[in-house]
This record gives sequence, C-alpha cells and structure tokens, in this order.
Amino acid sequence: MNPNTDVTAIKIVVLISGNGSNLQSIIDAIAERNLNAEICAVISNKQNAYGLQRANDHGITSHWIDHKKYSSREQFDQALIKAIDPYKPDLIILAGFMRILTEAFVGHYQGKMINIHPSLLPKFRGLNTHQRVLEEGDSEHGATIHFVTPDLDGGPTIVQARLPVVAGESAEKLAEKVQRLEHQIYPLVVEWFSERRIRLDQNKVYLDDNLLPANGFDFIA
Ligand code: GRF
Repeated sequence: MNPNTDVTAIKIVVLISGNGSNLQSIIDAIAERNLNAEICAVISNKQNAYGLQRANDHGITSHWIDHKKYSSREQFDQALIKAIDPYKPDLIILAGFMRILTEAFVGHYQGKMINIHPSLLPKFRGLNTHQRVLEEGDSEHGATIHFVTPDLDGGPTIVQARLPVVAGESAEKLAEKVQRLEHQIYPLVVEWFSERRIRLDQNKVYLDDNLLPANGFDFIA
C-alpha cells in the first residue's frame, strides 16, 4: 500500500538547516521499507540548504523560513508553528536544524519532537563534538536521538549508537563514521514511531511499554 494514501500513516515534518543526509536516510527508509509514514513537509531556515533540494527531488513540499526576517526567537518560532501545524504532524524531526528553540515552541510539540545529536549525550552537548571528543581523548563516541525538551541537547534519550575512537583519526573521519550510524538509527526510530511503539511519559521513554534506560536503546550496528 502507498503510505501516502493510508490514513493510519504517521505524518512527519522535518526541520533542517543544511545537507540533509539524515533527511535522505528517512526518505529512503520510507521508500525501501515501506514504513507507514509520510513526510508532509521539509522546512529550512537556510535558503541554500541542500536538504531542500533533496525534498524537491522526492516531490516533498518544502518551505524556507528565514530566521533573519524575524526580530526575536519567539517570532521566528511562531512563524515555524504556523508553517508546521496545518500539516497536523504526529512527529517533528530535527535533522541538523541549527536553531535554538524557545520553550513555547518546544512545549507546543512536547512528546512528539525528536532530535539527533552527534555525541553520546550527556557528553558533548553543543557544537564541534567530534573535535572535542578527540581533544578529551575519549575512547568512544557516537550519536544520540532524544526527545526535545527546553533543556538544549538534554531531553530523554531514545537511542544511542556508539563506536570506538581510533587513535590518530581526524575529526572529519570521525564525523563520517558517526553520520553512518546516524543514517541507521534515525530511520529505525521513525519506524518505531510509525508502529506506535515509542512514547514519552513523565520525561521517561517507553519502547513497547518497557521503560528505556537513561541512555536509551543501545543500537548495535
Ligand atoms: C548531524 O550530524 C546531526 O547529528 C547534527 O547535524 C548533522 C546534520 O547532518 N544535529 P545532515 O544535514 O543530516 O547531513
């Protein structure tokens, strides 16, 4: 069955700012695994985000909402809500969306907005995670998918995927390896949502009604 015509398919809106390789992994998984999910729209705050091209290539509606046109975060976030809500999404996916979101925005989508972060949270919140991992001399690194809460990069974890850090490797190489993991775990989590297996309750994450540990489901590549 074409998921686009199935009323039980979950509706997704994806927010991006750049390349959109994670968006691509989700587009591909929906097509290949026939997930019961539909990406209704892709929204970018950057006009030249390659992810917008990816959306267009797959016939997905895209929007560019320039944050620079708004005098405050609150106003930008309200414009985002206005663009998102008509789609009545079940799930909002942040995939390289490089904006700090207001509490009002986050609260509006509580329990249905997720983010991917290139580190084993709570380690290395924020930017330049790969370089910082190398500087700290950590022996492992990875990616985390978590529910979004007002605590930046601090919401309850759904999944973590880890890899060993090889001595002497560059931040670029490490980034590449982490992205390969990201492209496996984001589609998996979307699949879980499409099967209604994941929920957030009182800041805790449940998979099939089982409480997940604080570092989420341990994904083995
Ligand atoms: C990913 O590494 C993700 O963890 C981070 O931003 C990057 C986005 O990459 N939040 P892409 O645009 O999906 O290629």
